[in-house]
Amino acid sequence: MRTNIKIGEESASPLNPGRRAENKAVKNKAVKKQRPRTDMRSQRKPGTSWRVILITIVSILVILGILAVAAYFIAQLIESKYFFCYKSLKFIPLANACNGKADCSGGEDESSCVAQFATNSTFPVRLVSNLTVLQVYSGNMWGSVCADGWTPQHTQVACQQLGYTVNPYSTTVSLDSLSPEMKKLFYGVGTVGARTIQSNVTIQNSCSSGSVISLTCSNCGPEVPASRIVGGQDALIENWPWQVSLQLGGQHTCGGSLVSPNWVVTAAHCFTGNKAVSRWSVMPGKTHMSSLGSYSVDKIIVNEAYNSELSDYDLAMIRLSNPVTIGASVRPVCLPPHQLGLRGGASLVVTGWGSQQEEGPSSSTLQKATVPLIDQTQCSAVYGASLTPRMLCAGYIEGKVDACQGDSGGPLVYFDGCWMLVGVVSWGIGCGKAGYPGVYSNVDQMLNWVYSVMQQNS
Ligand code: ARG
Repeated sequence: MRTNIKIGEESASPLNPGRRAENKAVKNKAVKKQRPRTDMRSQRKPGTSWRVILITIVSILVILGILAVAAYFIAQLIESKYFFCYKSLKFIPLANACNGKADCSGGEDESSCVAQFATNSTFPVRLVSNLTVLQVYSGNMWGSVCADGWTPQHTQVACQQLGYTVNPYSTTVSLDSLSPEMKKLFYGVGTVGARTIQSNVTIQNSCSSGSVISLTCSNCGPEVPASRIVGGQDALIENWPWQVSLQLGGQHTCGGSLVSPNWVVTAAHCFTGNKAVSRWSVMPGKTHMSSLGSYSVDKIIVNEAYNSELSDYDLAMIRLSNPVTIGASVRPVCLPPHQLGLRGGASLVVTGWGSQQEEGPSSSTLQKATVPLIDQTQCSAVYGASLTPRMLCAGYIEGKVDACQGDSGGPLVYFDGCWMLVGVVSWGIGCGKAGYPGVYSNVDQMLNWVYSVMQQNS
């Protein structure tokens, strides 16, 4: 639009001023010629008053539209600088919200802030390896659960504990296919009745049925027919339906992944300096970035062990005020089983609306990039002590394909029967730089925290 106005202005003010008069004369002639035509029309048609009404209505609508757009931008501008105290109808500078001191007279600037959560106990249920074998923790020991006496109600209880309520499903796995580690100890289940699966178990040397329980707890991470992600390609949300955009005051700020209809996993560093929960919203189901129809946020919980200097334990969870409606473009990703055992070179996919080049703007279309897992020792050789066990590296040593600013908090997924969230975009040195692969939070290392957050906040 701007370009059009410019061209118009330039052609209307020619360099030779002598021609201006000529131009005017020509314009006047044109106007004169047109006038009689209009007059004749109005004489013939008696519907002029309708036209006037129509023009008035359209003009009013246009003016209202302009006012609404202006109001929207002014509201956005105010919202980007001030926090609104809704009880005392007062604005305070944003930096004063969630600073540990009540600045609104009603204290509402401190009532809903990013919270910290620490796990002081072991979450007593887990799925292990690519076989997703159910293990429970009882009397300080993990053991695989025997299939003996297992009922659909047991499946229901165990899945509920893992935070899943949709499509609980169990199969059995023969003892022969288990690793020695998984055969160290077994538990037999009693009759259901208790609300937890571990409360009624008994230690066993083996399983008389010769098999243990494997659980699939949700219709998560479906396979679908099928970058500042640098070196990526356009992607469709239907293929990565767990991807959400985290928006601060309506602006895309970070990525995130739905792990259930009302929980999003993201990075803790997204909330540094922006701790007022009400300013955040979550946008699911969009290939093209937009902020219309986003979901409001109820709680933001950051891993208490998160260290902003080291980016260690860079994980956070968001609870939505209302669960999302599951559909073709909105669906949770699976959490990975413990010790999935991926090796260097495993093919992972990262998605997001981040910049497509260092220092670039965020992308309006969702991008995806395939990035191989880099062996931990190989990556330690690059990043040294900066790489903690809560991190993993993916990408190419030669660079070019990588996540970037704005992809943070977004998913790094692996497919094995279903798509699983193995990593969360965390940091890097530049983007796609040779020798510096992307660093992701290692979800496996913080599964205990993720499950505990969901259980204790639902
Ligand atoms: N910290 C960045 C963000 O806030 C993500 C950086 C990822 N960088 C990389 N080279 N993989 O969006």
